[in-house]
Amino acid sequence: MKNLIDIMQMSTDELQELIDRALDIIANPAKYAESCRGKKLATLFFEPSTRTRLSFEAAMYELGGNVIGFSEAKSSSAAKGESVADTVRTVGCYADIIAMRHPKEGAPLVATRTAGVPVVNAGDGGHNHPTQTLADLLTIYREKGTFDNLTVGLCGDLKFGRTVHSLISAMSRYKGVKFVLISPEELKVPRYIITDVLEANGIPYEEVTSLEEAMPQLDILYMTRVQRERFFNEADYLRLKDTYILTPEKLRTAKESLSILHPLPRVNEISVAVDDDPRACYFKQVLNGKYMRMALILKLLEVNV
Ligand code: CP
Repeated sequence: MKNLIDIMQMSTDELQELIDRALDIIANPAKYAESCRGKKLATLFFEPSTRTRLSFEAAMYELGGNVIGFSEAKSSSAAKGESVADTVRTVGCYADIIAMRHPKEGAPLVATRTAGVPVVNAGDGGHNHPTQTLADLLTIYREKGTFDNLTVGLCGDLKFGRTVHSLISAMSRYKGVKFVLISPEELKVPRYIITDVLEANGIPYEEVTSLEEAMPQLDILYMTRVQRERFFNEADYLRLKDTYILTPEKLRTAKESLSILHPLPRVNEISVAVDDDPRACYFKQVLNGKYMRMALILKLLEVNV
């Protein structure tokens, strides 16, 4: 694997290899402290980010490497009209690996054609966010010890939520997984995910609107934010943004073993009163993202430790 653009580029064996590497990094951080000495990561973020950019940067520093980059398009020559292809061709002269976020779907794939160094998709429009999926998978694995036989509820904006699309695709390859897709009518999972991923592989799923009714059967609840930046119409955003708000009351019928995930940032969709619930895993997920990005950098740079 030379680049990571879509999580489905990785087989389940490759994902397990990355998870095992992340677990080894957690257990033995000192072993990795110099493993990328002399290497540079470039973070090219044409869209805002806290977790993805900073966790990539923290990951590279913890591997002993260095970081260059920009955190908004207007501070790069994209503001003067430079193309993505030329930007990454330039950055490929300075860095050993590129992590790129862009509002246009497919932009990181375009970048792979001219970069000359590995490119990681750090989120492209409403399309994919494979390294968030790596964080999600490590969190599920650490909480449940398996990916098999889980009922996974995804709740909120399932239409534009790129993390949702990547997670459904990745989890659909494990035995006995069932999906409960909880959203308002306007924010349902795109049809191609239903037909090409779920129905094509005979994976059981339900599309429902009530979080309360879905709750008792769930092993994983993956909450998502309604993303203002993806709406063309402010009135639609305002009407839909608070459709689902997870509170301690709503968790009364949930399993004791439920794991609550959220890619973050959250706005209103999980009450802060839920944060102290032992089932809340979303800040563990943040940390797991850094470990998986460390494992990914090692893999793409072909560093043997
Ligand atoms: N989960 C995630 O992608 O967060 P950021 O937008 O802060 O990077």
